[in-house]
Amino acid sequence: MNQTDRNRGPIPFNLLPDSAEVGSRGELRIGGLAVDDLAADFGTPLFIYDETHLRSRCREALEAFGEGAAYACKAFLCLAMARLVHEEGLHLDVASEGELHTAIAAEVPGERIVLHGNNKSLGELSLARAHGVSRVVVDSFDELDRLRHLHSVDGVVASVLLRVTPGVEAHTHEFVSTGQNDSKFGFGLASGAATTAVDLARSNPGIDLVGIHHHIGSQVFRVESFAQALEIVVGFSEPLELPELSVGGGLGVAYLESESAPSIGEWGDIIGDACERLGVKARVSAEPGRSIAAQAAVTVYSVGTVKELAGIRTYVAVDGGFGDNPRPMLYGSGYTAFVPDRVTEPRPALARIVGKHCESGDVLVREASIPDEIRVGDLLATPVTGAYGYSMGSSYNRIPRPAVVFVSNGSARLVVRRETLEDLISLDVE
Ligand SMILES: Cc1ncc(COP(=O)(O)O)c(C=O)c1O
Repeated sequence: MNQTDRNRGPIPFNLLPDSAEVGSRGELRIGGLAVDDLAADFGTPLFIYDETHLRSRCREALEAFGEGAAYACKAFLCLAMARLVHEEGLHLDVASEGELHTAIAAEVPGERIVLHGNNKSLGELSLARAHGVSRVVVDSFDELDRLRHLHSVDGVVASVLLRVTPGVEAHTHEFVSTGQNDSKFGFGLASGAATTAVDLARSNPGIDLVGIHHHIGSQVFRVESFAQALEIVVGFSEPLELPELSVGGGLGVAYLESESAPSIGEWGDIIGDACERLGVKARVSAEPGRSIAAQAAVTVYSVGTVKELAGIRTYVAVDGGFGDNPRPMLYGSGYTAFVPDRVTEPRPALARIVGKHCESGDVLVREASIPDEIRVGDLLATPVTGAYGYSMGSSYNRIPRPAVVFVSNGSARLVVRRETLEDLISLDVE
């Protein structure tokens, strides 16, 4: 994966949220508010989401996939996000009891929720049934048995899509590649497991089989991979004459200036064209996560130490780290950095931006272009942190999780408060 930001100019605005603009002091403003003012008001580290950007991506997904558009909550979820997505008319794809609970607490009706997960417990399935969740995407033979058992208890018939693995290389990081034969997810097409699952589902009184689902992976740039997977899956699904077909999520987003990704609309067109060519009659649905949330946010940190190692490199340590963004450590993902109150300045210096966790691997940006004269106390921000950052984070070293604000039209609202030291010991029993 590309990790290096070679741009020594100012941070490119196409990596920033839609409403990003430069203020009269040369500061970055998002949603009409100065990022340094937000940091002063809410503290750092701070996730700042441009609400208008989130809403616009939801609308794009709705336009591309209509009733079949769902937001993959794993990318980023809190009550405000669940409400926003629901208000915009998207379904919510939840992948655990916790995500489902959040959607329910946000008063999203069950008929707007789709349940995922490769190892759903009886408890998760029961909560989904009690809440009238509209679709269960079934991943395993054990789950088919669980649905039969639950039906014998409560009589509920679940509307089910079977998740299949088409055996396609998604050309993304191994950890986010899910469509290959060797996968913990879904029923393999090549092995015949998918055919067996269809037969079992059709003879299961607890199941109304409504469709086939596949998801080839995440952060996928090569759109041919989507069309290739569709071709294989459609060869299996169309003869079944089921009313629904889900293509999952996975559209990549640019994290660096050197990267470019199709828009959600372009992705929809690619899927639409492929479906037309393949004569798909089923209603097609999709579950974008990253492409809705990633570029909507920046994370703002405070610089705590600057360590210059002569002839080696400069380390700039900030007050967060892999606890709020594990992607660089997990996948070697590349990011950029900039100083939000000097957003138009060139970035001729090079530094490694690291966090404050006790791991050498706690690196946020390996080779960051930054302005000259970064000092202790400066703000430093990383763009494109809206997906799989807060949601994948942790409080390792008992470092409290950051706060999250939504900004739009000149106002900011705190949607997730900063974790406190008391929160950190609140689960400890003695
Ligand atoms: C089944 C499923 N749908 C949708 C998504 C969302 O993917 P992305 O955020 O890459 O769009 C994922 C991500 O892992 C997934 O597993």
